[in-house]
Amino acid sequence: MSNYSPLDVTFVKGDGCWLTDSNGDKYLDALSGIGVVNLGHCHPTVTKKLVDQSQKLLHTSNIYHIENQEMLAQKLCNLANMDKVFFSNSGAEANEAAIKIARLYARTKNIENPVILTASQSFHGRTMATLSATGQAKVQAGFSPLMSEFIHVNYDDFNSIQKLEDNKNIVAVMIEPIQGEAGVIIPKNTYLNQVQDLCKKNGWLLILDGVQSCMGRTGKLFAHEHNNITPDILCLAKGLGNGVPIGACLAKGVASEMLTPGTHGSTFGGNPLVTSAALGVLDVFQNTDVLDNVNQMSAYFKSEFDKHFSNNSVVKELRIKGLMIGIGLDANKVDCTQLVKKALKDKLLINVTGSSIRMLPPLIITKKEVDTIISKLLTLLGN
Ligand SMILES: Cc1ncc(COP(=O)(O)O)c(C=O)c1O
Repeated sequence: MSNYSPLDVTFVKGDGCWLTDSNGDKYLDALSGIGVVNLGHCHPTVTKKLVDQSQKLLHTSNIYHIENQEMLAQKLCNLANMDKVFFSNSGAEANEAAIKIARLYARTKNIENPVILTASQSFHGRTMATLSATGQAKVQAGFSPLMSEFIHVNYDDFNSIQKLEDNKNIVAVMIEPIQGEAGVIIPKNTYLNQVQDLCKKNGWLLILDGVQSCMGRTGKLFAHEHNNITPDILCLAKGLGNGVPIGACLAKGVASEMLTPGTHGSTFGGNPLVTSAALGVLDVFQNTDVLDNVNQMSAYFKSEFDKHFSNNSVVKELRIKGLMIGIGLDANKVDCTQLVKKALKDKLLINVTGSSIRMLPPLIITKKEVDTIISKLLTLLGN
């Protein structure tokens, strides 16, 4: 179907930060398949897990115990300080699970018409519930009637949540620790803490959609670790499988008790193959210095960027947390709609949202590769 309009290139091979197309040309991937292959293409640890598991067992269904799934659930819960996990195949489905949990939670409070607060410009997925939760008109256009339970508040604006405190139908607040699809919008340091305090005070569930910002992307395994908080629900996907489709909805306390047998499910969710890949991903985070590299390369990128772009008339600002990078541009001075294609010609993969460049390079990126990105950005944006 024509819901995508792919660029004129086909990649046939990937290795670390590099992709090779069908003509044999190499590209520096500063997007990681939209924040998925965080450990780089074909990471040997993940590949080995997949090869080994595919020779043993691919799928049985959740009618039976799945060893890898149970191991992964335990590890994720330990790492995130959560109690239980539901495994899905995507970020949208992880968020769907969170929304269903919030509805069941509403039942325990005798709330018939539950309301979930989400943020304007947010992105939570493309299913009917998650696109209703999403705060972007372009994602919703044509799909009404939407689910009515979402009230959109301004992102990074605590008052816009606080002033709804009297609404007795509110059961949850669902936000991204950093907004990704909006072009990398990083809230004030205290924002998540304030939101959590308000949720606690009112008995609302705090649902963090960490689909894009977790799995090491910001320099911590989970983005909200920067705030020292634990949400009631944490949704993961993308980098969790480093390229195989897996999502997870982690829950703590009362939120973890809502789903009972028969209330939710997925045929593929958490199958032996994808959970083996995710176990490999966690091995890499635990046994290598990849998170240190994120922080070092983030600082290096920032200093190099400042050095080269501080007087650039096209660049308005750099927004960076770990290796989640947004570059705000002056749309009057550059045709933003052409940037992705221009960069592709120069063998650099980036993404553009509105008037921002977004980059999510692999977390294993080296200084030399950062230098290459900077020099290609200079070509793209001029001095
Ligand atoms: C924050 C966030 N939530 C949810 C999703 C949806 O994930 P998926 O495309 O795996 O359904 C995305 C995808 O970009 C995302 O960035």
